[in-house]
Amino acid sequence: MTERYAVIGNPVAHSQSPAIHARFAQATGQDIVYERIEAPLDGFERAVDEFRAAGGRGLNVTLPFKQPAFRYCGEVTERAGAAQAVNTLVFGSQVRGDNTDGVGLVRDLEGNLGLQLSGKSVLLMGAGGAAQGVVGSLVDRKIARLVIANRTFSKAARLAARFEPALAARYEDLQGAFDVVINATSAGLADEPLALPASVIGEDTLVYDMVYARDTAFLRAARAAGARCSDGLGMLVEQAAESFLIWRGVRPATRAVLASLRGH
Ligand code: ATR
Repeated sequence: MTERYAVIGNPVAHSQSPAIHARFAQATGQDIVYERIEAPLDGFERAVDEFRAAGGRGLNVTLPFKQPAFRYCGEVTERAGAAQAVNTLVFGSQVRGDNTDGVGLVRDLEGNLGLQLSGKSVLLMGAGGAAQGVVGSLVDRKIARLVIANRTFSKAARLAARFEPALAARYEDLQGAFDVVINATSAGLADEPLALPASVIGEDTLVYDMVYARDTAFLRAARAAGARCSDGLGMLVEQAAESFLIWRGVRPATRAVLASLRGH
């Protein structure tokens, strides 16, 4: 029997997740349909209830509902509990929540971009929901130094305190180059620049923006400075693969899907 999944968000019209999961299903021979649900900003719980009542088996959750999804769950995995945010819902006798964003980022950095995180210095910019979802996975990779910088310092300090040995910093106090600089702020969505000292990006720095499908001011500046750059499309595909594994018990291959989304 065909089983139903969907991505729920607001806005969600441009989500690539249906195309990604359709390819995964085809490649692995899984009989599923995967839709988009745009829930009203005040109607997340109702929309999920309706999808479950109609026989839906699971949901991916995107902005701005990852924290409401966390609160909706009867049980959550350890990594979702650490992130206090859920991007994958599984409907069984109760609702189970997981968060595959951090694994998705690490798999993109290590598997697709060929960077081993162990022993590296990493700067994570931002302390909102997007940053919160990935800190635990970065810490788990035994990186040498993780600095969380945010415009509002107190939020970086609170986040770093939850994930020792991460450190918090103000942008203006950052000095010296990092091996990896990850933008987890939403500044790029508003095309606003980030007040980042130029010295943090060196010749060998990998600069990563978790935003995809648009070239942010941050990536443009990093590229102009000669840095190796990546958007977040690979993270999107990898977090989707992890969700697919949770739902269907089979891990889909990602490389060809990512290449085709990039138009290669
Ligand atoms: P998300 O779920 O996308 O992370 P969020 O929780 O609203 O959204 O967090 C947005 C993040 O982007 C925050 O870290 C925010 O910084 P503040 O905590 O200081 O608000 C950051 N951000 C947004 N616009 C920014 C800008 N123009 N410059 C620097 N940081 C910005």
